[in-house]
Amino acid sequence: MDAKAPQDPHLDHGIQDALFRGLLAVLNSGQDASEMLAAVQNFSLRHFEAEEHLMARHGYPDTPAHRAEHRRLLGEVQAMCTRDPADPALADVVAGVMAQMRTHIDEVDKRLADYLRAQEAGAHRGTSD
Ligand SMILES: [Fe+2]
Ligand SMILES: [Fe+2]
Repeated sequence: MDAKAPQDPHLDHGIQDALFRGLLAVLNSGQDASEMLAAVQNFSLRHFEAEEHLMARHGYPDTPAHRAEHRRLLGEVQAMCTRDPADPALADVVAGVMAQMRTHIDEVDKRLADYLRAQEAGAHRGTSD
């Protein structure tokens, strides 16, 4: 990432999910999925970096575990992207990684979002009176 501020993680999650769905659609249509695979990989990397930047900026206590989970997921994404795009089994692999990504958003990212919300609420309370 450059000097630009990280995007809102909620917005990012919508894009991430849409990219996975787009990748599955391309695979199911029988078209070459190379570009969509690269797009999913690049976006995932960038999104995790942005989230980790956010955690560091807000002193999130669960950062090491969250970051480790990002590394694990990136390993899954990387393994998915190094497969032959014409492999008929790839759609199942992609669906599996997509499900893991959704679980991460629903559980691990949710805890981060709750923490950031609580921190923000506390900051607002601190300045309002
Ligand atoms: Fe996320
Ligand atoms: Fe995350």
